[in-house]
Amino acid sequence: MKPTITLLTALLLAPLAAPVVAEPARITVEADKPGHAVPATLYGIFFEEINHAGEGGLYAEMVLNRDFEMTSLPAGAKWAGNLLRTANDWQERKWFGNELWGWQFVAEGNARGSIRLDDRDPLNERNPHSMRLTVREPGTRAGVANGGFWGMNFVAERWYELTFHARTGGAERFDVTVALESANGRERYASAVVRGVGGAWKEYRVSLQANASERCGRLALTVQRAGTVWFDVVSLFPRDTFQARPNGLRPDLAQALAELKPAFVRFPGGAIAGGLNLDNRIQWKNSIGPIAQRKGTMNLWGYWTSNDLGFHEYLQFCEDLGAAALWVCNPGFSDNYRHAEYARPEQVPDFVQEALDGLEYALGPADSTWGAQRVANGHPAPFPLRYIEIGNEASGMVYGSNYVQFCAAIRAKYPTLTIISNQRLKDAPVEMVDQHKYGGAASFFNAYHQYDNADRSGPKIYVGEYACNQGVGEGHLTAALAEAAFLLGLERNSDVVVMSSYAPLLCHENDVAWMSNVLRFDNARIVRRSSYHVQRLLAANRPDVVLPTRVEPDAASKDCDLFALAGLDRRANELVLKIVNRAAVPRTVTIQLNGCGALATQARVITLHHDDPTAENSLDDPEVLVPQETTRAVAGAEFQHTLPANSLTVLRLASGAGGK
Ligand code: AHR
Repeated sequence: MKPTITLLTALLLAPLAAPVVAEPARITVEADKPGHAVPATLYGIFFEEINHAGEGGLYAEMVLNRDFEMTSLPAGAKWAGNLLRTANDWQERKWFGNELWGWQFVAEGNARGSIRLDDRDPLNERNPHSMRLTVREPGTRAGVANGGFWGMNFVAERWYELTFHARTGGAERFDVTVALESANGRERYASAVVRGVGGAWKEYRVSLQANASERCGRLALTVQRAGTVWFDVVSLFPRDTFQARPNGLRPDLAQALAELKPAFVRFPGGAIAGGLNLDNRIQWKNSIGPIAQRKGTMNLWGYWTSNDLGFHEYLQFCEDLGAAALWVCNPGFSDNYRHAEYARPEQVPDFVQEALDGLEYALGPADSTWGAQRVANGHPAPFPLRYIEIGNEASGMVYGSNYVQFCAAIRAKYPTLTIISNQRLKDAPVEMVDQHKYGGAASFFNAYHQYDNADRSGPKIYVGEYACNQGVGEGHLTAALAEAAFLLGLERNSDVVVMSSYAPLLCHENDVAWMSNVLRFDNARIVRRSSYHVQRLLAANRPDVVLPTRVEPDAASKDCDLFALAGLDRRANELVLKIVNRAAVPRTVTIQLNGCGALATQARVITLHHDDPTAENSLDDPEVLVPQETTRAVAGAEFQHTLPANSLTVLRLASGAGGK
């Protein structure tokens, strides 16, 4: 029983009394009352081509504007000053670039000449433009150079694979010197001469090994005689790609994503699945096969996208990660938020067929039309595509009626696929609905309870995009902790919320179209933001079942600043308790584990924290926030634990009779 003191006694004793110690907060776990299972699908990732996530990012290609197609605009769109205006009057911010963006004429020792975009005698109909190099005076050398995506990063001893297509007007032949060099061309790290370049379009290949490292290099193709030569699809790849895939991915970025151990990958968008207009939607058929045969897209996020990180590569990446593929197809209209262009009702079946063909490419037998294409592209077995989402953030009556058509056709051919809708529909059965959440820290902490009363008889819920991205700059620890609290709420409600993925995933430091992202990078470095560590910790410590967990805040807390959830990891035979302490001070909590039986005498403790709630990792200082792991003694089923200020803590307690 607590002692009672009257107000008068308290006032009289006040100057002499020791400070009153508030009862610590208490977290009570009912370890013998396991609740629902936590689905293995809960934590995934979502990749969208935004912020140069793919071009100049995850996709390892080093040449910027390798296909010279940057001038192609979406059908019907026009420039309006600095803006791109679609026929439906949507005005998009200017993308940066020009027809020869990324390329420069190289002239040394009084060389004279020029480079121009040319559409005569193209490589093929999907690549209608090429670059014409005219050399009038060769000087010591003349040619072209490409500095890549904000500089090419060469690493000493590593190999680089160059391919380029070239032609001349007739019998003319050139010896083309290809070189990896410094931005001003004075230092050369690797070079080779490709002899006899000319005649009809032909592909040339060269391997180059860098003899020194250079963070901001360029690729040069030069000649030493006058004349004219055309180039197209000029590509430079590091030999080392993720899992050694051809046309592959940058290993450091792909590896960081692999470490999240995502259960699934949602792709390719996001808003780009809809596009600025229908012509601008992601058209998966443009993104398979030899790279010289693909057709790029002027990206809704302001840059040219080659589509060489395409449907096949996305599916391959899913397989390489051991993740299920979740493909977002176009629903028969372009992005809702950008004055959608709608397919006419009689055209909708074509869009349904586009989706069915994509599914056949991923899943169909080798003797089906599109399955055969997959085999021809080097993948005989089906890909692990398990989900299809009809559109992104699409809504309205047209969505409802299109959805029904997509759903019926897909269900008939692929009965085991999960079909995801962008909204609940009155007149159609919806199996799973994708709900997005962006907002400030307060809204995310509050959303710890968002799904407590969700309808359990309706569709399952996929939180396909979420990010605490308002009032938090480019993201920081408090934002990540707010996301952690939200995710604990999802996990507690994972009988109904069965999947989640943060958005966006990747951001190039030199093109920040969207502020908060999981990983940032430049041409040589990457940084895992605090949100990355939160997702990794929660996914790595996903229990099999949730346990009832009660949080009673201490007397001193005004706001709810403590969030917790426990579960059982039956594979490891461990009780897992995850706690977010939002308070700016360390706090001691009492942890009471009811019905847990014997426990080992030591627990593992993993903590992400910083005294500064706005702390964040950066490219220059990538380890300000890194989870720390330690152990602590556990004397019994009730003990006190001090949580650092601004922290996410994972406690793992093994069961056992007094052992470790
Ligand atoms: O994640 C960035 C964008 O936010 C996505 O493209 C879109 O779905 C959402 O509005």
